[in-house]
Amino acid sequence: SIDTVRTVHDLRTRVAAWREAGETVALVPTMGAIHAGHLSLVTLANSLADRVVTSLFVNPLQFGPREDFHAYPRDEARDAAALSDAGSDLLYAPDAGEMYPPGFSTKVSVSDLTEDLCGASRPNHFDGVATVVTKLLLQCAPDKAIFGEKDYQQLLVIKRFVRDLNIPVEIVGGAIVREADGLALSSRNAYLSPAERTIAPVLHQTICQVADDLAKGRGADDASEAARFKLESEGFRVDYVAVRDPETLKPLHGPVTAARVLAAVHLGKTRLIDNVPVPAR
Ligand code: PAJ
Repeated sequence: SIDTVRTVHDLRTRVAAWREAGETVALVPTMGAIHAGHLSLVTLANSLADRVVTSLFVNPLQFGPREDFHAYPRDEARDAAALSDAGSDLLYAPDAGEMYPPGFSTKVSVSDLTEDLCGASRPNHFDGVATVVTKLLLQCAPDKAIFGEKDYQQLLVIKRFVRDLNIPVEIVGGAIVREADGLALSSRNAYLSPAERTIAPVLHQTICQVADDLAKGRGADDASEAARFKLESEGFRVDYVAVRDPETLKPLHGPVTAARVLAAVHLGKTRLIDNVPVPAR
């Protein structure tokens, strides 16, 4: 199966040997519960660099006190086998003490981009993500790091602090992998009951409808209100449905050209997010 290292020292030793041989390195950060969405990022990483490191760390800093940190699915042996099959060269799976030793007291905090959408309902979440991803990038020092568009706001936040802090890495986004019925793959889909699973694809259908409406010239506020109504009538609890500038995430109101439609909902005890592009007209 896949070689696994658990310390920064061992990770750096392995990466240094590749560098010595003139090889380039891509990093794919994950929290495990590996599915085809993660594996698509490993495949993309392999096409962009000679060596691929996948990290597996369920980061306590990015979970709220009432969120699913303890329930988060953990199966390292299964993840390791899937990552190996997908062509990852190394698994970096530190424990919490390696990542946050006693006395750890620094955080990376991005303002502006993190203030609304998922940031509004998950205070401190993006600080937790920015802090751990900064550490992973400094620990591994890859040429490229790959993140999914599934977490679109997260991808923009990461691009922002990498630029702001001059971290010498190229951040690359990977397309969202979906089930046949449109539901975006997510580790949290495992929490859905059979009944919830049958209505979950309505989230993707609804934001695609918003994108179609926008492409036909319907106003952004009008289209997103209709989507909220549709989702609520199907039994989702809507956190947000938003039409945003695809680079800055600033709100858009009337008819739009290029935009991103983003949504977050609760279905029973499960929080689902999704997003789709609106092509420029
Ligand atoms: P996690 O949820 O495990 O996701 C790891 C990576 O896989 C992220 O970049 C995410 O956007 C991507 N991903 C998840 N589902 C996907 C899908 N259906 N299609 C394509 N990509 C998908 O995101 C995190 O972990 C953490 O916040 C992390 C960045 C690792 C920091 O802790």
